[in-house]
Amino acid sequence: MDKIYLLTDYKGRFGSKHGDSPYRSGMDPELLRQSFFDTGYELVFITLSKVDPGDGSWKGRQVLYTSSEDKGLTYKEFIEDVILSLEYAGAEVIPGYRYLRANNNKVFMELLRVMLPDQAGGNLKSACFGALEELTASSGVNYPVIVKGSYGAMGRNVFLARSYEELRRIVKHKIVTPVTFQFRLKEYLRMLRHKGYKRDSFYRGEFVVQEYITGLKNDWKIYYFGDRAYVFNRPVFPKREFRASGGGYDNYSYGLEARAPEGMLDFGWKIFRALDVPCVSMDVAWDGERFYLLEFQCVYFGTAGILRKYSKVFFQRNNGQWQAADNEGGIEKTYAYGIAWYLRKES
Ligand SMILES: Nc1ncnc2c1ncn2[C@@H]1O[C@H](COP(=O)(O)OP(=O)(O)O)[C@@H](O)[C@H]1O
Ligand SMILES: [Mg+2]
Repeated sequence: MDKIYLLTDYKGRFGSKHGDSPYRSGMDPELLRQSFFDTGYELVFITLSKVDPGDGSWKGRQVLYTSSEDKGLTYKEFIEDVILSLEYAGAEVIPGYRYLRANNNKVFMELLRVMLPDQAGGNLKSACFGALEELTASSGVNYPVIVKGSYGAMGRNVFLARSYEELRRIVKHKIVTPVTFQFRLKEYLRMLRHKGYKRDSFYRGEFVVQEYITGLKNDWKIYYFGDRAYVFNRPVFPKREFRASGGGYDNYSYGLEARAPEGMLDFGWKIFRALDVPCVSMDVAWDGERFYLLEFQCVYFGTAGILRKYSKVFFQRNNGQWQAADNEGGIEKTYAYGIAWYLRKES
């Protein structure tokens, strides 16, 4: 039986699972083992800190991993280092390292998104910055715009700016990392001491400025696990201004009730295939004429939409058509299905 290596964190944890027990324990290791076994793979669990990319054993191995949303993303950095080194050691990390980098990093995600073909999510105009100083009145975007700080989910770090001045204010006060008084003082002293010295920015922090799609009443979340699509419709509640995310799973409509517009699952599918990953979660908008990809995640995304409690059906792709099929709902099983599909598909 083919082996797949699965990396766990210092708590022995893997992945995110809605309604896990104990709280925040992730996917169930036994269910994972069984689900992969049922699709013809033997899972080998290894703790991230035990990985030695220099031991000569990693070339050609298939490796599954997850991300982390720990405070300051400190442990996530460790995961990144291990996964990138494994990629250099010749392992096939699934998905590729770039998608780990894009997790909880809206700037990098955006830089990957704009490389997608226009008809597969690359159509939305945007620009990325690393400091307030880089933003100028002629940054090539028309107002209003959406501005997103690199870090954060559920619409907490996403804002609407109606003018250049408002955009600067939002970046300054809500997005960038504040500097200390000492830092400022030191920089002013340097300016006094060294003629021509350009001081470091007091407003450093990555952010994305994106064209605003006006008048949206909702967006759709679509997950693809191999050739199965799970979809739900997230309405924009008035108190959330323009944000569809973060409204609460109980307030969304799932499956057939999500009323996905004609062509939307195909649009998402093009993106999914262009990304070349086993699983993805994407936010898609429809302005009545065109579809837009607002964001995507290929690791460690919310999984509630897989649950039978919410989605009674998923959509199975069959000869280019999407057919509603009864959803049993297991998260570990669905993940294993996606991975097995990816490893066995004819490319
Ligand atoms: N360019 C945009 N135009 C209009 N609405 C947007 C745009 N980008 C995001 N939104 C809205 O804001 C919400 C949050 O944005 P998103 O990038 O998905 O961040 P988060 O990670 O916080 O969910 C989306 O669900 C969508 O409703
Ligand atoms: Mg989102």
